[in-house]
Amino acid sequence: MASNRSSATAIVPNDLEPYWMPFTANRAFKARPRLIARAKDMHYFTLDGRKLIDAAAGLWCTNAGHNRDPIVAAIQRQAAELDYAPAFQFSHPKAFELASRIAALAPGDLDHVFFCNSGSEAVDTALKIALAFHNVRGNASRVRLIGRERGYHGVGFGGVAVGGIVGNRKMFGALIAGVDHLSTTYNRAEQAFTVGEPEWGAHLADELDRLVALHDASTIAAVIVEPVAASTGVLAPPKGYLQKLRAICDKHGILLIFDEVITGFGRMGYAFAAERYGVIPDMITFAKGVTSGAVPMGGVLVRKHIYDAFMRGPEHVIELFHGYTYSAHPLACAAGLATLDIYREEGLFERARKLETPWAQAAMGLKGLPNVLDIRPVGMTVGIDLASKPDGVGKRGFEALEAAFYDHDLTLRAVGDTLAMSPPLIVSEDQIGEIFDKVGKIIRQVA
Ligand SMILES: Cc1ncc(COP(=O)(O)O)c(C=O)c1O
Repeated sequence: MASNRSSATAIVPNDLEPYWMPFTANRAFKARPRLIARAKDMHYFTLDGRKLIDAAAGLWCTNAGHNRDPIVAAIQRQAAELDYAPAFQFSHPKAFELASRIAALAPGDLDHVFFCNSGSEAVDTALKIALAFHNVRGNASRVRLIGRERGYHGVGFGGVAVGGIVGNRKMFGALIAGVDHLSTTYNRAEQAFTVGEPEWGAHLADELDRLVALHDASTIAAVIVEPVAASTGVLAPPKGYLQKLRAICDKHGILLIFDEVITGFGRMGYAFAAERYGVIPDMITFAKGVTSGAVPMGGVLVRKHIYDAFMRGPEHVIELFHGYTYSAHPLACAAGLATLDIYREEGLFERARKLETPWAQAAMGLKGLPNVLDIRPVGMTVGIDLASKPDGVGKRGFEALEAAFYDHDLTLRAVGDTLAMSPPLIVSEDQIGEIFDKVGKIIRQVA
């Protein structure tokens, strides 16, 4: 019989205190740690050798599955061959190769790539490019940035400012000036238990016209939205909403940025969700799935006219005063190329498209369980809202996260009292059944 125990000998840390963990309840974690020793394909293994099915692709990132041999080998080869090349005024061949491969996957003329190391850096890079783009074209008054309530754009000052999560904003002062927000597209009364894109809500894009009337188009640089707002609970765009946003941006000369840090690289059944929705933004931010989470990498795809606007003046002069020491790091580029090979060879984007229906059906099977207020499957993701406990928002969600890990050998995301799942795209139909069977038990356990 296959053992659920790992033969790996894992080192157990003797002091959990010094590491200040990100977006984590540190005291609760350190009292009852959830440590992961190794991973393979769809599974994590704990220090004591338990095998957990990963229903969250790590943090929405390991789209090709964990520890895939070709990615591991590519990273190992690269580390032995070229550890680092200066990112400024020098480079290495794989940076150009990866940019070409990503540009080829992107729709329309999104054909230039600026590399960085995370989703947060990608967002701040895109916002800076938007401001600088208008500046080089003589429109320096276009400085306002528009985000959306319940948007998550990482943790840089720019990303937090355009983001719409109060907990991420309230401690950090005035952030950056000149930011406004569209309303969230989510309305439970109108949309509960919708599979895919809701019918209700396209009219909310008209708020952009209202903000233009308030501020004037000549002051607005860009609008940034996630095509599907993932981190705050998987909120699919209402039918026609993104198309409307595009049209209003065009009307007023405002750049449209899609933050595809989660929706990119197959999560929505396509290389980018822009393709699913038939809307070409001016920039796409990406990260996570580009290397299947194996090495940190992010980037911004920009349309040709944006890149071209900067390519003028004396040729020895730097065109954009922005970049990171580790932009297009050789290890990240090697991992990215190997990851894109897997996506292509295994047809993982098409696979996600095919699995979307069985995934959604399995998710909707949880309707009617105690405290389930909404279930929202879209692409290979789902958000499940649970009613909060009377003694605290987020408590039931946290209990579900703990129950999943300790009692049901499953990892998922809990955001407040919303459970979110987004498995690696190699998930089988049997494993989809296993995941939702476990989630059903967890929901009953925390009732
Ligand atoms: C849409 C979006 N943008 C930006 C980020 C930030 O990415 P990172 O954590 O790599 O900085 C995330 C992370 O989940 C995200 O979902």
